[in-house]
Amino acid sequence: MKKVRKSFHSVEVLHGVDLTVRAGTVHALMGENGAGKSTLMKVLAGVHGLDSGEVYIRGEKVEIQSPKHSQELGVAMIHQELSAIPEMTVAENIFLGREPRKGIFIDHKKMQQMTQELLDNLKVAIAPSVKIGRLKVADQQLVEIAKAVSFHADIIVMDEPTSAITDNEVEYLFQIIADLKAQGKGIIYISHKMDEIFRIADDITVLRDGNYVNTWEAKDINNNILIQNMVGRELNEYFPKVEVPIHDVLFEVKHLTQKGKFEDVSFAVKKGEIFGIAGLIGAGRTEMMQAIFGLAKLDEGEMYLEGVPITIHTPKEAIAYGIAYVTEDRKGEGLVLEMPVAHNITLPSMKMFCQNGFISAAKEKSTVEEEIEALRIKVHTPAQLAGKLSGGNQQKIVLAKWMMKHPKLLILDEPTRGIDVGAKSEIYKLMCEYVAKGNSIIMISSEMPEVMGMADRIMVMSNGIKSGELTRKEFAQETIMKLAVSNI
Ligand SMILES: Nc1ncnc2c1ncn2[C@@H]1O[C@H](COP(=O)(O)OP(=O)(O)OP(=O)(O)O)[C@@H](O)[C@H]1O
Ligand SMILES: [Mg+2]
Repeated sequence: MKKVRKSFHSVEVLHGVDLTVRAGTVHALMGENGAGKSTLMKVLAGVHGLDSGEVYIRGEKVEIQSPKHSQELGVAMIHQELSAIPEMTVAENIFLGREPRKGIFIDHKKMQQMTQELLDNLKVAIAPSVKIGRLKVADQQLVEIAKAVSFHADIIVMDEPTSAITDNEVEYLFQIIADLKAQGKGIIYISHKMDEIFRIADDITVLRDGNYVNTWEAKDINNNILIQNMVGRELNEYFPKVEVPIHDVLFEVKHLTQKGKFEDVSFAVKKGEIFGIAGLIGAGRTEMMQAIFGLAKLDEGEMYLEGVPITIHTPKEAIAYGIAYVTEDRKGEGLVLEMPVAHNITLPSMKMFCQNGFISAAKEKSTVEEEIEALRIKVHTPAQLAGKLSGGNQQKIVLAKWMMKHPKLLILDEPTRGIDVGAKSEIYKLMCEYVAKGNSIIMISSEMPEVMGMADRIMVMSNGIKSGELTRKEFAQETIMKLAVSNI
C-alpha cells in the first residue's frame, strides 16, 4: 500500500500511509488506539474505499471495489469486532454467501462436513452445528480464524486475534500462523500485546495518529524503542502500582456454587485492595462475576458486604449496593454503539445530572469532557457515535461510564483487552487512584504481566474451583500457570 489517504466526513484519519508485506512473513502493524490500523486494513479488505493512494498485490496494481473483490484478490480479514450473526450456526457463518449447493438448495450435509474438516485441520473442537451466539468470545474468534483460513487467502489480516483468548489458545494460534507462514502467506498482525509481537513478527510497521512512522525488521528494534515510536514520548512506568493502605474486608463470598460452572468458591476483598483473579478461559471466572452481579443465579453460597449478609437477584440491586461490573464483551453488553459517546458515558449515572427534575446539560458536558480527558479517549467530538470509535477507545468509554458511578466495589473483567500500551498505563493509574480512596477492585485478567503487575493478591481458578490464592510476595508466572491447570 502506498501513500494511502482516507477521510470520514471530511476528517482525515490516514494521512498517506505505506505498508509493504513480504510473502512468508508476519508483519505486525502497531500503534495506539485510533492510530488508523483497523481503517488501513479495512481499506485493504474492501470495506472502505480510499481517497488516494495505491494498492499492489503480487506486484500488480489493484483497485479494490468491495469486500468480495478483496477476497477474490486473495485477502482475508479477521475483524477486531466480532461480527458473526449470533443465530447462525458455525457452518453457516463460515460459508455465508458461498454455501455448497445441490441444485438450487444449500447442501447442508456437505456444508457441515466441510466445516468439520476445516475445524479438524485446525484441531478446533467446536461443533459445526452450534449457533455462534452460544459460543464464548474465544471460540467465536477461533471460528473467524477458521473462516479466514478457508478462503485460502494469500494475505491474512488478523486484527487483535488474541484479545479474547488465553495463553494456551495463543500458543495454538501461533502454530497455525507458523503453518500459514511456511505456506508463503503474508500475515498482517495487529495486537497491543507487546510480548506477542516480538515472538512472532518478522517486520514491524508503526502508525501514529494516521501517519506512517517507520518499518523495521523485528530483530533490529527493541521494546522500548517500539513503544517510544508508538506513543511519541517515553513511557517511564508501565505498571504504576502504588502500595496503598489496605483496610478491613469490604466484600466477602462463601461457598459460591453454580452447578457445572464453579463450585465452592470463597474469597474476601479488602478496602484499598486490587484482588486479581487469574485462570484460563473456561475457568468459571466470568460466570462467577455474573452471578455475583445478579446476571445469573447462584445454586449455593453467601455474600457479605461490610460484614452484612446480602442477596443480589438483579444488576439493579448490585448497583444499589455499590457494586459495578465492567464486562469483557463491550459490544454485547457494555456499549450502545448507535448512541453518542457522551450519552454512553453518562447513561448509568443520569441521576447525577438531575437538578429539580431537569438534566443539567452543562454539568453533563463538563463531566463528559473530564472523563474523555482522564482516559485519553480519542474522539473528534463527544457527539460522535460510539460505534465509530476505534476498538480500544470503545473499551475506555465502558470503563469511564462505570467509574463515574463511584462504586465501592468495581469488578473489571479483562479491563484492558484491546487497549494500547499508553492507555493501559493510564487505566492502571486510574485503578490505583480508585483504590487509594478506600474502594476495592476485583480484576479478572488473562494477561499474566497485568495481573501480577497490578494485584495485591491473586486468586487462581481452574475449571470451576479455586485452586489457590497468592500474596504479592508469592507471585510467580510459573506458580500461577501451575495452579491454573491443576484441576484440568
Ligand atoms: N466508520 C468510521 N466513521 C468515522 N470515523 C471512523 C470510522 N472508523 C474509524 N474512524 C476513526 O478513524 C480513526 C482511526 O480508527 P481505527 O479504528 O483505524 O484505529 P485503530 O488503530 O484500529 O485503533 P484500536 O487500537 O483502538 O483498534 C479513529 O479516530 C476513529 O474514530
Ligand atoms: Mg482497531
